[in-house]
Amino acid sequence: MAQSVKGMRDLFGPVMGDFQHIEDTARRVFAQHGYGEIRTPILEYTEVFKRSVGDSSDIVNKEMYEFKDRGDRSVVMRPENTAAVVRAMIEHKLLQTSDPQLLYYIGPMFRYERMQAGRYRQFWQIGAEVFGSATPECEAENLVMLFDFLQGLGLKQLKLTLNSVGTPESRPAFYAAFRAFFDAREAQFCGDCHRRVAENPMRVLDCKNEGCQTALQGHPLITDFLDDASRAHHERLKVLLTNLGLPFEENPRLVRGLDYYTRTAFEVLSSDLGAQSALLGGGRYDGLVKHLGGPDTPAFGWAIGLDRLAMILAAVRGEQSVPRPALLIPMGEKAAAEALRLARGWWAQGAAVQVETRGANLKKALQTANRQGFTRALILGDGELEQGVVAAKDLAAGTQESWAFAEVPARLKD
Ligand code: HAM
Repeated sequence: MAQSVKGMRDLFGPVMGDFQHIEDTARRVFAQHGYGEIRTPILEYTEVFKRSVGDSSDIVNKEMYEFKDRGDRSVVMRPENTAAVVRAMIEHKLLQTSDPQLLYYIGPMFRYERMQAGRYRQFWQIGAEVFGSATPECEAENLVMLFDFLQGLGLKQLKLTLNSVGTPESRPAFYAAFRAFFDAREAQFCGDCHRRVAENPMRVLDCKNEGCQTALQGHPLITDFLDDASRAHHERLKVLLTNLGLPFEENPRLVRGLDYYTRTAFEVLSSDLGAQSALLGGGRYDGLVKHLGGPDTPAFGWAIGLDRLAMILAAVRGEQSVPRPALLIPMGEKAAAEALRLARGWWAQGAAVQVETRGANLKKALQTANRQGFTRALILGDGELEQGVVAAKDLAAGTQESWAFAEVPARLKD
């Protein structure tokens, strides 16, 4: 009974502290770049994702928490947020002009995935999306923001890998070449890949089956089929990134697992946890807004997994205790009532104080304080009450001073 649903976890203690630190850093950096927060519902109509992430993708095929609500409508718990943000932009008519829209989000996503380290069925993403700019400059700006955010958190072993997946117009030639390659070795591919090659050959490249990955050696590369404008776009982005001192690596095999990408696709890999693994992914999706019924609007963005990021951060920063407020320990009924009145005045002045309200005796209260990592106790007994002071105990040093009530907030700030 007392167990969370498989793949879903509770966040508290130091891990929660890491999440908060990451979120605070994200909000600060993104606001500097003019991005505003958007929060969309957890539940969306199923069509939002079927039509955007793609019918042939693993996310839609195998991983969605999809069910009928009590009104018999098919809904899903969002597996990602790009499609939902696009849905919101269209619904609120925010893309009717060519004004740019710069947005970010922080929230839980849901995918019924096989369990692995750092992979959950409810996981958290931080994402950023820009609407209204088709330029490589928009992408470079957004990537600088991303790297300032990650490096601001202390991550060092980061690698940006980059590709262009072209446009829907340039894709048929690649598909034809790829299908010819596939047909020549079709016996080596799994059943899923036979389905994928008909629906969307790019999904074959994502197959996790080892046999398929071996059979894929020497496959035609999408980069060899780019139209001139996509190629020029890609070259320009590389120049901009080089100018900004943002190192990158080209990966012509990078196609991503969602259907909506056009031109730039990228991932950031981290080896801060030893083996290199994808920390985030994103790219341009110029066709999606129109595809979901909105005005033709270029767009670009990415999303990062907060769970993995927090794991890396924990490894980078080492053991650290969660900072605690001062613990106010009243002794006796009179002091207990007075403690609340005093604390209220200190809180109003911005002081951080937790009140011991169990009526515990001093010995027990101090044992608790030590166990929970408090570093400062403020003891209030009858004697202190009479003199208008607290006995301020430094729990690490074991020393004690008398502080007048009025000076407590200033003393705690020191
Ligand atoms: P995605 O690659 O599916 O892209 O997910 C982005 C990141 O979310 C992954 O790199 C990973 O860190 C994290 N993630 C995905 N699944 C899990 C999981 N089960 N457990 C923990 N973390 C996970 C997208 O979602 C796109 N919406 C990104 C985007 C935004 N493209 C354009 N704009």
